Amino acid sequence: MGDVIVRSDFSDLYERLKQYENVYMVYDRNVETFADEIAEAAGIQASMAIDADGSNKNMDTVLDICRFLLAMDADRRAFVLAVGGGTTTDIVGFAASIYKRGVRFAFVPTTLLAQVDASIGGKTGVNLDSFKNLIGTFSFAEFTYSCTAPLRTLSQRDLVSGYAEMLKSFIICSSELYEKAVAVLPSVTPDNVSVLVDLIQATQDFKTGVVERDPHEKGERKCLNLGHTYGHAVEWWEQTHECEVEHTHGEAVAIGMVKVAELSEELGYAQKGLAQKIAADLRRCGLPTELPCPAEDLAEALTKDKKNVGGKVKFVYIREIGKVEWSA
Ligand SMILES: NC(=O)c1ccc[n+]([C@@H]2O[C@H](COP(=O)([O-])OP(=O)(O)OC[C@H]3O[C@@H](n4cnc5c(N)ncnc54)[C@H](O)[C@@H]3O)[C@@H](O)[C@H]2O)c1
Repeated sequence: MGDVIVRSDFSDLYERLKQYENVYMVYDRNVETFADEIAEAAGIQASMAIDADGSNKNMDTVLDICRFLLAMDADRRAFVLAVGGGTTTDIVGFAASIYKRGVRFAFVPTTLLAQVDASIGGKTGVNLDSFKNLIGTFSFAEFTYSCTAPLRTLSQRDLVSGYAEMLKSFIICSSELYEKAVAVLPSVTPDNVSVLVDLIQATQDFKTGVVERDPHEKGERKCLNLGHTYGHAVEWWEQTHECEVEHTHGEAVAIGMVKVAELSEELGYAQKGLAQKIAADLRRCGLPTELPCPAEDLAEALTKDKKNVGGKVKFVYIREIGKVEWSA
């Protein structure tokens, strides 16, 4: 796995990029200002903007990126830099991993969710029809460079969405970090987001450690799917039904964590009261905790989840905060 770095400015990024020739940047149009800054300081000539909307997380966008690389005469020495949130890093990482059978790439994640989760760990991919991340590869970025500066332009909702993946990590690994985070997060806004540096670093360290021990999700890495079985089902349901406002990925994961905490209690993994505590903490941090539909309506998506094996739906259960268990 490549380096995972968090800094308060981009100066080290420019130094790193100077080591590469043939750099092609693909960025989320919503972070054009940062992308322009990076391109100018690092001398990047070729760049392409994408609309990093969930509805564009598909093969059409991947092919557009491949066509851009081809039009630029990018050969197998190409180095692709993705600048944007998790939608961008997933799409661009995937395109780079298949263009000419794979070229090198790196990420500059610009959302909290991407900094603590999506840009780390080598999972790249796009959606197929309404099913999330169904097409993809395990391909590792040469480096991931997080900087807190872009987080200042995030909407409060997108900032809060990142809390879900951060809290997910702490539910898995540490009650101490979890309690620290739920005490701090309710008062964070894009203006004072730099207070999160230590928690971002702790989340990255946790995920990096898991991925280094189990890069291809044969065992331990499965724990990172906590909340995602229901979370992906919620996202599928909202894409296939008329909804006024769809949940973000982080919001869907928050709902999924509460559902699986309830399931953990029902099946005797956890003591009564766990789901209620997690739901109250998530709500205090600004996250939703209720399903948008009756649980039965999610059955089709649960059975199609890509984590399933032999038709069995896979869950990560919570024993207590800091301790989880998953179905083999
Ligand atoms: N590969 C993985 O391991 C992994 C893990 C978790 C999530 N994901 C994926 O990540 C995606 C969600 O990522 P996300 O929450 O970063 O969403 P996103 O990339 O869609 O970004 C959310 C919104 O914020 C905007 N944005 C991005 N950076 C900004 C900035 N600095 N200032 C202002 N606006 C900005 C985007 O344009 C978008 O409108 C999902 O597709 C999910 O499947 C992947």
